[in-house]
Amino acid sequence: MCGIVACRMDEAAGPFLIDALKLLEYRGYDSAGVAIRTVDGTMASSRTTNRVETLERQLDDWSGPALSGTGIGHTRWATHGAVTETNAHPHADCRQRVSIVHNGIIENADALRRQLEQTGHVFASEVDSEVVSHLIEEELLITGDLHSAVTAATLRLHGSWAIVALDAETGRMVAAAHRSPLLVAHSAKGVFAASDINAIAEFVDEFQAMSDGDVVELAEEFVWTRSGAHSAAPAYAASNWSGVTHGLAGHSDYMSKEIAEQPETAARIIDRLAPMIADGSLWAGLNLPPFERVAVLGCGTSLNAGRVIANAFGALGDVPNSSLIASEASSAIMDPRTLVIALSQSGETADVLRAIDDLDLGTSSLMALTNSEHSTLARRADSMLNCNAGPEIGVAATKTFVAQVITGVAMALSALAATRRIDRDYARRQTDDLRRIPDLLAHAIAASQKAIPPLIEEIRDAQGYLFLGRGAGVVYAAEGALKLKELSYRWAEHYPAGELKHGPLALVEAGTPVVVIDSGDRRIESNIAEVEARGGRVIRIGGAGSTIPALGLSLGTPMPGGIDRWGPLESVVPLQILARDLALALGRDVDKPRNLAKSVTVE
Ligand code: AGP
Repeated sequence: MCGIVACRMDEAAGPFLIDALKLLEYRGYDSAGVAIRTVDGTMASSRTTNRVETLERQLDDWSGPALSGTGIGHTRWATHGAVTETNAHPHADCRQRVSIVHNGIIENADALRRQLEQTGHVFASEVDSEVVSHLIEEELLITGDLHSAVTAATLRLHGSWAIVALDAETGRMVAAAHRSPLLVAHSAKGVFAASDINAIAEFVDEFQAMSDGDVVELAEEFVWTRSGAHSAAPAYAASNWSGVTHGLAGHSDYMSKEIAEQPETAARIIDRLAPMIADGSLWAGLNLPPFERVAVLGCGTSLNAGRVIANAFGALGDVPNSSLIASEASSAIMDPRTLVIALSQSGETADVLRAIDDLDLGTSSLMALTNSEHSTLARRADSMLNCNAGPEIGVAATKTFVAQVITGVAMALSALAATRRIDRDYARRQTDDLRRIPDLLAHAIAASQKAIPPLIEEIRDAQGYLFLGRGAGVVYAAEGALKLKELSYRWAEHYPAGELKHGPLALVEAGTPVVVIDSGDRRIESNIAEVEARGGRVIRIGGAGSTIPALGLSLGTPMPGGIDRWGPLESVVPLQILARDLALALGRDVDKPRNLAKSVTVE
């Protein structure tokens, strides 16, 4: 959680930090702040509990000494301490000499705070991060050297951190990382550090990812150390964000843009992967050992995508499969020769990283399926598959779900073909079926945009929503309920439709919206009848004649045993649009829902 950024440039740091914070805001938006060294060697600090635009205006109004090109910035998702300006980062030491920004959690902050207070330090905030600036202050008094002071300070920390410390007196800046992402980069424009490459992509073409325990001086030449000793710098990685435009391209919000991008995203991914499916080369390229079963692991939407992929392994290749909620997976017992697929859009979700650390893999292997090829998850897994969705800015995952599912199913087919669980002709026919997905998604967008707006007025005042599906449709019902909750702040639950009569049917009264994913199982008709008999408002997502006729069944005959076995992938589109339209009608910020952040780097 939280986004951090730092720069040393010839030009003024303020505008760069503001732009970078806007791009990092998806990581948390409870507060934002910057500390910039002035040309007088003092620190100028500005913080707000409003959005980055407010910070921008505060900086425009700055009337103190001129600001230099060296500064740090932070956008916060509150963990320790309320959302107040004093709890906003950056945090300074007692002398206002060293300011720090921090992403992560300092687990021993209370004990450190007590020790520091006993030696006379005065704290200004409630947050765990503030101990870092005081620890550095204390160490700086001993060594007089910021790099050594940051090293010594971090050796006293337990927990996770990505930190940049700025010394106003000398202008030196030192970064440290442990279990939180931090990238550093040089270019003709200057020296940079950021939680995510997207924040600095306009200024750099390549970067270096810090590993656990690294401390780096952000000087003309980077100085890398670990535990106080010089360490080898990691290789440079190319930024895959170069040339990516951040604009809304005519959309009113990023969620709208990212929903609309799904057909093109799907087509691009399928075109790239299709030639590697039937011959098994996609699987072979991952260099993973043979497997007897599959377990998917993730959180939120990534877990739902994983469940679809697990269903595909089962439906297409009879592979036993299971899914693990990452935050509950630490004690899971792995069967031998399990292919564990950890899914994470960001590749930085702390629950996922903890789970893969704690799992006893034995003869099992770990594959990362992520949208961030240089992420911590990608680096820790035995092998990595990039879902290549491109940047997703909206906090609600949309196109990354589609990209994860298509990439994962393509990999599943390739693995099944390579291990001779399916023959190549069958794999080829399945690949042809995958090629229908972009059209199915485009059809779903058009049908949803027509059918959903007239529904919203009718359902906007409901306090609870049910989502039902059967078989392959259940996981989509789960994704629909998740989207609606996170965007509209209304209660929503999903159930296998047959389970309704065993309890949840009691929730249904006149007008209760019940969204049904009708993926062709005839038994769902009686479940719908049960709801209608109690006056529930059934919103059927299905083929022609449905309330939202968004499913490809209306486009022609689906291929028996094809994507309908693990689909219907396109049903996610009306679910996304329903959640977004309802949220907008309720006046919500669909790109930045309250209390959430896109990358959840705390447990
Ligand atoms: C999705 O709309 C959510 N914002 C959330 O559930 C998300 O999918 C989850 O936090 C996992 O994130 P990850 O894919 O980056 O690991």
